[in-house]
Amino acid sequence: MTQTWRVDAGPQTLVLASFEGEIPSVVYWGPALPDKENLKVLAEATRRDITGGMMDTVPPLSLCPQEADAFLGQPGFVAHISDGTAVRPRFVLESVEGSDELVIRCRDKAHGLQYTATLSAHDTGVIALDAQIKSQAALHISWLAAPVMPAPALADSYQDYSGRWCREFQPNALDWAPGARLRESRSGRTGHETFPSLVVPTRGATHDTGGCYGFHYGWSGGHRMVAEELPDGRRQVQFGHATQSDVPSIKEVSTATLYIGYSDAGLNGLSEIFQSHVVSKIVRFPEPERPRPVHYNCWEAIYFDHDLETLTTIADLAADIGAERFVLDDGWFGHRDDDTTSLGDWDVDHRKYPYGLRPLVDHILDLGMTFGIWFEPEMINRESTLFKAHPDWVLGPEDQPIGRQQLVLDMSREDVRDYLFGKMDAILSDIPVDYVKWDHNRVLPYNTARQTEGLYALLDRITAAHPKVELETCASGGGRIDYGILERTQRLWLSDSNDALERLEIQANAAQFLPDVIVGSHVGPRVCHTSGRVFTIGFRAWVAAMRHMGFEMDPRELTEAERDVLKDITSWWKDNRDWLFQTPSKRISTADPAIIAEMRVSEDQSKFATFIGKTGTSRQTLTLPIQLIGLREDVTYTVSLRYHDGALALSRGHIPLKDGQIQLSGKALMSMGVQLPMQNPASMMILEGERVA
Ligand code: DGJ
Repeated sequence: MTQTWRVDAGPQTLVLASFEGEIPSVVYWGPALPDKENLKVLAEATRRDITGGMMDTVPPLSLCPQEADAFLGQPGFVAHISDGTAVRPRFVLESVEGSDELVIRCRDKAHGLQYTATLSAHDTGVIALDAQIKSQAALHISWLAAPVMPAPALADSYQDYSGRWCREFQPNALDWAPGARLRESRSGRTGHETFPSLVVPTRGATHDTGGCYGFHYGWSGGHRMVAEELPDGRRQVQFGHATQSDVPSIKEVSTATLYIGYSDAGLNGLSEIFQSHVVSKIVRFPEPERPRPVHYNCWEAIYFDHDLETLTTIADLAADIGAERFVLDDGWFGHRDDDTTSLGDWDVDHRKYPYGLRPLVDHILDLGMTFGIWFEPEMINRESTLFKAHPDWVLGPEDQPIGRQQLVLDMSREDVRDYLFGKMDAILSDIPVDYVKWDHNRVLPYNTARQTEGLYALLDRITAAHPKVELETCASGGGRIDYGILERTQRLWLSDSNDALERLEIQANAAQFLPDVIVGSHVGPRVCHTSGRVFTIGFRAWVAAMRHMGFEMDPRELTEAERDVLKDITSWWKDNRDWLFQTPSKRISTADPAIIAEMRVSEDQSKFATFIGKTGTSRQTLTLPIQLIGLREDVTYTVSLRYHDGALALSRGHIPLKDGQIQLSGKALMSMGVQLPMQNPASMMILEGERVA
């Protein structure tokens, strides 16, 4: 007997089938099918022929592929009992309940196991999946995949992301070939090295056209991805916690949520689905109506050198330029004069702040800004009062290698979490704090899911006690970015690189899964601290203005001319932020590879802003037209150009957009494109459009 179910979410349909009572498989995943599609016929039509050299039946590529079916790829569940004997279940279907949320229960009587998969459809176009195993006997479970998905045959490549400190979100496009691509983050946090996402574009897909499949695993600890082409030609994608994330002997294990999406409108269509989902279903702003405040963060201005007079001067200048929130970064607590000491001692350093933080905070509030503060709760220095009192609170062995001079606290311990909550709560209750930057600057001594669960518990407790405080996730820049942490934070620090050229690229790549409104981006110092490069203030500020804008340079270094430019761009951002983030940004396909261009269109399509960043010198002499996207074809827009200082230093001619405005229909702007003036490398131009009344 064949049983079938379907899950519809926006532009995608997923069909599941169970043949002869076996664990269900996804037999169709792709563009939305007609309501009246006969699923039984569809499921039967997916049956495969057999030939010599193979089993007499085709092993199912089920939600949890099983070795016991002679499945030759990576299985969905790997476990053994205490004497080392492998557990190789063959699950049979027990029940399926629900429609928008399908709960599928399967059982393996011989091993006393229950497998449950949950599939939830969202109006954003995302389907959320998770899996759980319950066992009558304690097991050593080394791997459980979230419900396993097939990947399309008509896709030549797939794209995942690697990275490093100061260069996160590097896309890797790889060709499908027989065998498995396995990416595993064993750092115990999401990791710079492995953003837990995958994109599978079908053949010929572009930014705007063609079928694209996307995956994101929402977990802030070690994780694993397998993209595999089986010897028989089928393809599977698995995501789950990193292997051996769990304690050895366990009766129950669950995956985090795997988010999947499909769009037939190219990579932009896919990013629209994921970005919208994050904004509407994952991130919870304490005050959703509050405009995103312009940040000032003092880290690169003063590092550990805190001094009230300097900080108040910096605050005056930052407020004058337009900052609305002042963030006091690392260095305010314990005896933290450098990174060798004091993590764990979350009391104000009275050498630096003899009267506590109050005088600084009052000054900041008087300037009309709010106050934010930095913590790195999960860490401890050997050189600290806390370590002297509780050396046993450290995660991992005594002789482990240290990272950034620090060790990690064992977050699975309730006493550790109580201590941290007490310390943070005291600060947050004592002074008016509206924002915490939550950092995490080293990898764990080993990967364990208990650490991530402990972190989530502490974050939830802080939020319950201080619901108005916004949180930012940071881990030496982008080392902990995923939808699990974003359920508990409202801003992310994408990278420690404030190099505008690097940042432009990192931002553009991250936008495939992350909405602009939560991505922090700061105007860094004139000489970039992580690259030594020098960029104009115009370029630095416009790159920051593409996301949640902030400043991080010492404002005392700014010339008057630089200050004017920065003020101008900041006030532009404030004037436009109410509509800039209403819809997901889209990447424009450019004929010139030296240009990265992003399009933002207001919800009612009456306004747009196109950010055109030049990353290097073009191969060709002339500029090539930029074809806009997402406009209303029949509407006429007035289009004008905005830029600063040296952006047009190489331009000698006169073209309409350089000398004034043009008025064209959306259709013309999208199909003919616009001709822009010659643009310097490392510069930004903004094309602004407004509907003609
Ligand atoms: C790493 C972060 O990414 C920086 O922005 C800064 O907060 C430092 N840690 C402080 O130690």
